[in-house]
Amino acid sequence: MGGYGDVELIAKDGKRLDGRLADELRPITIEVGVLPAARGSCRMTWGLNIAEVAVYGPMEAHPRKIQRPDRAVLDVRYNMAPFSTSDRIRPGFNRRSREISKVTAEALESIVMVEMFPRSKIRVEIEILCAEAGTRCCGITAAAVALADAGIPMKDMLVSVAAGKINDVVVLDLDKAEDNYGQADLPVGIMPNTEEIAFLQMDGDLSPEEFDLAMKYNMKAAKEIHKLQMSALKSKYNGGVQ
Ligand code: CDP
Repeated sequence: MGGYGDVELIAKDGKRLDGRLADELRPITIEVGVLPAARGSCRMTWGLNIAEVAVYGPMEAHPRKIQRPDRAVLDVRYNMAPFSTSDRIRPGFNRRSREISKVTAEALESIVMVEMFPRSKIRVEIEILCAEAGTRCCGITAAAVALADAGIPMKDMLVSVAAGKINDVVVLDLDKAEDNYGQADLPVGIMPNTEEIAFLQMDGDLSPEEFDLAMKYNMKAAKEIHKLQMSALKSKYNGGVQ
């Protein structure tokens, strides 16, 4: 979020540099069951982002000090592959990947019925193969699908999406240039059936009116993405019958 208000990101016809309108998502595809060794898995492309997620478990939680007597813990690892951006990412955990792993685990704990699996852990591995802004949203949305594919009982699905502000205009789903030179970014996690918010982060400043519009865009997009999640799951489990 550079906050450079002078970089032109919206053309005179109101369209963004990639031709989208303010409330348009980048193209999204979702595939289920792509990793044979995992109990559940998902591959998601979102614009130029590519995420693959593997879910293992529930299994006994090790080391024992992480066990909770009354519920499962979600062991989430978000990682950007070294080749996921033009500047090679140094392999291994860093502050950013720890932060995203933590917010992802907390968001997913809102939907997984963790009380059904005391003393166990559910491992969620999120690998970002190509990164072009919005990778935490892509990872969380794909992780919810992989958890469903693994048959983990859940209260709702979870969709993560971000709206933000560029050139003083509220827009949905910032791409890399918009993220670099924009003024604000508001990623959220939304349970699409109950419309509850599972997580919310904000980078930059939005007025109360801009915040309301950004949340309206996020909520509408969450419903659209939820349909794609369900259709991907149904194509695996119903043989394509929707
Ligand atoms: O990916 P997300 O928008 O959730 O997180 P961010 O920290 O706001 O990063 C925005 C984008 O910056 C990423 O999606 C990558 O494209 C890029 N980035 C990068 O090139 N190198 C990094 N070490 C971290 C992020």
